[in-house]
Amino acid sequence: MSDTITIFDTTLRDGEQAPGCSMDTDEKMQVAQALVDLGVDVIEAGYPIASPGDFDAVQRIARRFGSQSTICSLARCRKEDIDSAWGALQDSEKVRVHLFLATSPIHREFKLKMAEDEIVRRAVESVKYCADLMSKRSDIKIPNVEFSPEDAARTELDFLCQVVEKAIDAGATTINIPDTVGYATPTHYFKVISHLKKHVPNIHKCVISTHCHDDLGMAVANSLAGVEAGARQIECTINGLGERAGNAALEEVVMALKTRGDYYGVGTKIQTTKLCNTSRLVSKMTGMTVQRNKAIVGQNAFAHEAGIHQHGMLQSRSTYEIMRPEDVGYIGESLVLGKHSGRHAFRDRVTKLGYQIDDETFEKVYQGCTALADKKKSIYDADIIAIIENQSTTQ
Ligand code: KIV
Ligand code: ZN
Repeated sequence: MSDTITIFDTTLRDGEQAPGCSMDTDEKMQVAQALVDLGVDVIEAGYPIASPGDFDAVQRIARRFGSQSTICSLARCRKEDIDSAWGALQDSEKVRVHLFLATSPIHREFKLKMAEDEIVRRAVESVKYCADLMSKRSDIKIPNVEFSPEDAARTELDFLCQVVEKAIDAGATTINIPDTVGYATPTHYFKVISHLKKHVPNIHKCVISTHCHDDLGMAVANSLAGVEAGARQIECTINGLGERAGNAALEEVVMALKTRGDYYGVGTKIQTTKLCNTSRLVSKMTGMTVQRNKAIVGQNAFAHEAGIHQHGMLQSRSTYEIMRPEDVGYIGESLVLGKHSGRHAFRDRVTKLGYQIDDETFEKVYQGCTALADKKKSIYDADIIAIIENQSTTQ
């Protein structure tokens, strides 16, 4: 089994579906460029049948970036969707079509109104139709077709195995297991993937993929559980953008695999030093702000204010830091000075600011800073400088 995880980014498709987060084609092009620079393996660029604008965006992204990352477009299991998805990718070098069809009892009864055998038939016909269409292009030897049994996490395991086996026989090369409504827990999701690996005889012919939503706040944990069970592709979005509570956050799964490589034994090709910049770009393009305490890319992700922590950090960063801020491209002062900070941190900052002051002056500066910290949330360098300068003029 490969020890490299394929990172499939769906910021431009599932991410863009988040209420209020739609982007125009130029904005999508900028995000696509950032994803290519980040080293994303597969970019899901959109859902071409949805609108002429979506078709145009997928086509432009595929033409411009299709030699650098694989560009993927989404389709329901319907001929007109598949024609449109494939049509948008035509002129691109590295291409994938992603087909989905719901399999859970709830979706079968209320959304599709289809029986189990009809679902299997439709999935098989669609995968075959798509693979045939793609293989008409002389440079495509093995059509890159992904199949998703939508709402897989709420599908009966026997039926899920049946659909997956047939989809692989029909030509699917990636099988994605969506937890569409964020219902799974890590143990549950691990069991689903393990069950498929054990009971689907041809499963070794495809890559298993995770696609987890965050309704219960477990999208990242579930994706990692999927990897432990043998999945080798993770579908995710920048800043965890997506429908409702969002999708698994790319920056979190990537840094979890990197930081805990000792445990997972797998890695990705992501240029992690570009994570913060990419996060900022997506936030700007979608207007969706990133919470300060968001893991990896939040403004506070590497900031320490408590005196005990700051003292430890000044001795060795490893006391309270499991990742180096520079590895994710974090810019900002990691020791935030406030009322919880101690003398060590203030002394360190005073020296970094270029002041050589004796202990007595320092004590006065420190008292001045803590008095100010009671009135405002954080102490900035300018505040410290003003207090020091004030001391020297009053001496
Ligand atoms: O969440 C989901 O099920 C999806 C599918 C289209 C893969 O986004
Ligand atoms: Zn989704």
